[in-house]
Amino acid sequence: MSVDIEKRRRFASASRAFSPGAPINQYNLFAGRIELVNDVVRAINQRGQHVILYGERGVGKTSLANIMKEILEHGITVVKVNCDTEDNFRSIWHKVFREIVIKKESKGLGFNKSDTIEQIPLDGFINGLDEIHPEDIRYFLERISNVLVIIIDEVDRIDDLQTTTLMADTIKTLSDHSLSSTLVLIGVADSVNELIQKHMSTERTLVQVRMPRMSVEELGEILDKGYEHLKMKITTPAKNRIIQLSQGLPHYTHLLGLHSAESCINDDRDTINETDVDNAIREAINKAQQTIISTYNTAISSPRKTLFSQVLLSCALAKKDALGAFMASDVRNPMSLIMHRKYDIPAFARHLNDFCDEKRGPVLQKLGTSRRFRYRFINPMLEPYTIIHGLATGIISAEALEKLA
Ligand SMILES: Nc1ncnc2c1ncn2[C@@H]1O[C@H](COP(=O)(O)OP(=O)(O)OP(=O)(O)O)[C@@H](O)[C@H]1O
Ligand SMILES: [Mg+2]
Repeated sequence: MSVDIEKRRRFASASRAFSPGAPINQYNLFAGRIELVNDVVRAINQRGQHVILYGERGVGKTSLANIMKEILEHGITVVKVNCDTEDNFRSIWHKVFREIVIKKESKGLGFNKSDTIEQIPLDGFINGLDEIHPEDIRYFLERISNVLVIIIDEVDRIDDLQTTTLMADTIKTLSDHSLSSTLVLIGVADSVNELIQKHMSTERTLVQVRMPRMSVEELGEILDKGYEHLKMKITTPAKNRIIQLSQGLPHYTHLLGLHSAESCINDDRDTINETDVDNAIREAINKAQQTIISTYNTAISSPRKTLFSQVLLSCALAKKDALGAFMASDVRNPMSLIMHRKYDIPAFARHLNDFCDEKRGPVLQKLGTSRRFRYRFINPMLEPYTIIHGLATGIISAEALEKLA
């Protein structure tokens, strides 16, 4: 089969307009989040305030950090580094200072020698010290004339208690001395909450910004921006379907948005319809990450005929709070729709418990105290996968799904 050049061009543009595998790094593809961006920018502009940005996996924390460079005033230098499990206090600040360069002018000497500007990274400061303490960081930052925004992403990956304590102390000393530079720490909710509770609960200079899942409007904006870029359109039912399947997680909006565009382009059309979304679902299932597939299979597998796949799907479809948690009573409605008859909590309470057990992953985490238990998917990405899998295998029909929207 030969694909003509025009089609190839359209496929290529589609994969630029949607990025399921990577954070957003340019403002014109960044959707929604107006309030959150305002909160962060306001804190950055307040001397002595620092920011902790936290939320579930995949809600868009890194994307928001990436666009800061474009939206902050000229003259503010944004430095962004990532943490990993091997990092300690010294290695993190080494990465930060490596990114900060000062310009040094050297006068040209002799005939025809022109002046040169040397760019010097500042990590040499740290290399010269045997040990570094929060006070040293403050000392260096005070001596840099640029206004800096230092973004430290994935702080949840720091594995070492001493490092988190030192980071907390650094924020404290930077606030106490009212430095114009700002630290922005980013991480997954639970670990960052721990950090706050253990070390900084009383710290008023630390602005805590919680990033919730994206709203229906914000997910819609991702699709609108992407298709506008491609000069394509999407029908309202097709758009609503992608939004519902995404469960507030933008990765799936990008993934289904991209595969739907490809299906439409393949057919030489310009308007995406529900058939394209069906094709996209199949494609997403076929190409899903192996880790998600095996997590799903472990959760539902059973030699006998059981209700695990139906109950897991009902959990994925249950109404959730801003942190993705739901109660057993929230499972009732989707379960009854899937089973075409009324199902009450005792009929699936055991399944919920089992999902919290190692034997089935665990895939759910139980929160709170008895009678007020709430549940949450440990890997939020499993929720949209469970729903698209349910649709693709006919556990739930598109019509029933629409009733839950
Ligand atoms: N505001 C946005 N507009 C459009 N797409 C977005 C937005 N925020 C996030 N995305 C998309 O959602 C996906 C996840 O985003 P991102 O990597 O920023 O999330 P994260 O919270 O940093 O995830 P993790 O917890 O895994 O580090 C990416 O595909 C990204 O392109
Ligand atoms: Mg991230």
